[in-house]
This record gives sequence, C-alpha cells and structure tokens, in this order.
Amino acid sequence: MKIITTKSELQAAVQACKKEGKKIGLVPTMGALHAGHASLVKRAVRENDICVVSVFVNPTQFNNKEDLAKYPRNIERDAELLSSIGAHFVFAPTPEEMYSAEEMNTTFEFDFAGLDKVMEGKMRPGHFNGVVQVVSRLFYLVQPDKAYFGEKDFQQLAIIHHMVERSSMAGTFGNLQIIDCPIVREESGLALSSRNERLSAEEKQTAVEISKILFESVNWAGDKGATVPSVQKRVINAINAVPGLEVEYYEIVDRTTLLPTDTFKHAIGCVTVYCGPVRLIDNIMYA
Ligand code: PAF
Repeated sequence: MKIITTKSELQAAVQACKKEGKKIGLVPTMGALHAGHASLVKRAVRENDICVVSVFVNPTQFNNKEDLAKYPRNIERDAELLSSIGAHFVFAPTPEEMYSAEEMNTTFEFDFAGLDKVMEGKMRPGHFNGVVQVVSRLFYLVQPDKAYFGEKDFQQLAIIHHMVERSSMAGTFGNLQIIDCPIVREESGLALSSRNERLSAEEKQTAVEISKILFESVNWAGDKGATVPSVQKRVINAINAVPGLEVEYYEIVDRTTLLPTDTFKHAIGCVTVYCGPVRLIDNIMYA
C-alpha cells in the first residue's frame, strides 16, 4: 500500500493503473476509521482491481470551527488498518494541497434541487456545498469506476447521487457508479461513527438508546392508527426522555426527495441527537 500526499502523484498513480485496464474503486473518508469504513474498503477491494482510500478532514464542510478542531485524526492507525484490509493507495493531502487559499475561503454554491435545504442542510448551512466540493474533486482526480458511501449519512448520499446523475449528461465522471453501503452497527445497535470516539463509556451506553428507539419505531409505525406525525413525535419524546440525550431533529421523509411524507412507504426516519457534547446521527428505513 502506498500513501500519497499530492494531487499530481495521485493522478499519475491512477492513470498508470487505468492504462493497464484496471478498475478503480474509491472510498472517500475523513479518517478516524472504524469497522464501518473497513466494510466499505473491503467491498471496494473485492469489486475492483485497485482501491483508493482518501483520508482528508475536509475543512470546507465544517460550519463549526470547534467541531473541525476536535475531529479525531490518526493517520498512522488508519494506514495500518487500510494496509491490513488490502487498500492499494491512501490519499492523505493537506488542506493547502487540496485547495487554493481562494477555494478555502469561498463558499461554493451548488444546486441540489432542495435536497440540501432540509435536516442536516438546515442545521449546518454550507455543509453539503463543502462535501460536494471535496467529493467532486476526488472524483475528478481519481476518475473511479465505483465510489462507496455509507447510508448512515443518508442525506449526503442522496446529494452525491443527485450530483453524479446531473453531471452524467456532461460525461464529467464517466460511468461512475455510486455504491450505497448499509449502516454498520455495534452489537448494541449503536451506529458506528468516528464521533463515537469522543463519547465517554457512560455516554456510549446512553447513546445505544437512540438505535433501540429507532428500531422500536418500526413497530410503532405498524400500530393501528399510527401516522407519520404521531410516530415522529413518539420517537422525539422517547429519546428526549433518556437522561443525557437531546434530539436536534427527527424527520420522517421520502427516501428520494427527502421531503416530508404522510406515508411510511419508501420513508426513512433521520435523527440527530446530542449525547452530552457529541452530535450523533442515525436513521431507520420504514416500509
Ligand atoms: O462522509 C464523510 O466522511 C465525508 O463527508 C466525505 C464524504 C469523506 C467528504 O469529506
């Protein structure tokens, strides 16, 4: 496995592989890797000849400077894990290598047909512009055949699909296929997240209640007379009743449009919860 820190070296490495007709899989990450990332990487290794993993804490997607500063970083441990599961290249640039000073300080405005105006987009203005800025740059540099993303960040995935579909007409990313990968959970049900590293042992126990309540809500949705607003309210009340948890939002929306829906068909419930100081997200699919 080779660690690459410059864009030019990355482009040269992938171009050489492409010349040999090799298929390239890309897994974009912000590091602090856990078993959830490992499952994406293992799948990319299985389904492609070459697996490129980017490890880059992207400053332009953080609207909160403190969150950016506190984001866990450990490239040595990440590299060890990636090497043990068969990744071929790790791209770990500095922010200065990735962006010019102007790019770092300009707010990019992409049109996501409203997908960015709800839930995370509403709470974290500019977040998805930053995500798409870095992801589209990675697509441009690596020209992957497949790129892998976790369903835990469901809204991010919907926006990336939208971006790729829109640019497919222009042929910007060739025949790039976006691969949706299911949430990986601890045995307790807690969705794996790099942010879990910031939870104390006690907070981690508390955080388990989030997924328990989400799973239970699928049964509530099946109750006679249950409606989307009634289940939404029940989930919020149940989570808020757990000492140490505070819901920021819980919305049951259509899985394609991300807009509020009045049916559980093709619906997903997306939640953001503060567990102490740590902001956690999770989701659950209904029928
Ligand atoms: O999901 C993430 O870790 C990040 O948003 C991503 C896709 C790597 C872009 O920085």
